[in-house]
Amino acid sequence: MDKDFITIALPKGKLFNLSTELLKKVGYTAEGLTEKSRKLVITNDDARLKFIITKTADVPTFVEYGAADIGIIGKDVIAESGKDVYELLDLGFGKCHLMMAVPKDKKRAKLEDYSHTRVATKFPNTAEKFFNSRGMQMEYIKLNGSIELGPIINLSDSIVDIVETGTTLRENNLEEIVSIMDATARLIVNRVSYKLKFDRINKLVEDLKINL
Ligand code: PRP
Repeated sequence: MDKDFITIALPKGKLFNLSTELLKKVGYTAEGLTEKSRKLVITNDDARLKFIITKTADVPTFVEYGAADIGIIGKDVIAESGKDVYELLDLGFGKCHLMMAVPKDKKRAKLEDYSHTRVATKFPNTAEKFFNSRGMQMEYIKLNGSIELGPIINLSDSIVDIVETGTTLRENNLEEIVSIMDATARLIVNRVSYKLKFDRINKLVEDLKINL
């Protein structure tokens, strides 16, 4: 952990631009900080900032181990990761929800009727917690993207995945059966960094709150 600098982990994908735009408003930016950058660490020496651009699912890992002091990431990813990080602020953007969906023409009468079927998901831990709480045993098939393919090509009976606008579900003739959790982007902080760099991180949080 670099004592003078604040290192911020940002996820590639939907949250990237929203995150950099918000951080820019409070003076947290760096030259060349774009999603397309091939440079993985982008530094602003004057502002004592380092940005790292990572895969979405890896942001909590970088923050838990202190390789990054701070990260911006969806609540869904934090919950799935099970990583031990402080969640300091709900940033409000990146609204979506995690849900279970099935092909429209294969709907069953009630949720429990899907017990012992296969579910394709990028979120097996969260899905398992949810189905266990309903007393349902499922077979989980972990995919890393294009989850909707699962039931379409008979890899699985259902999916547990993120819905934002609903377009992907509609275009693939899938229908939501049950909502599992709501999510938005969060500011997360490494526990040790929060103590060692408290003043600076606290100031960032206060500045961000004004700009939400
Ligand atoms: C996410 C999610 C859905 C889609 C939902 O995928 O997995 O596929 O967005 O958004 P919508 O409701 O607005 O259609 P993402 O684009 O992050 O890529 P992925 O296929 O790699 O999961």
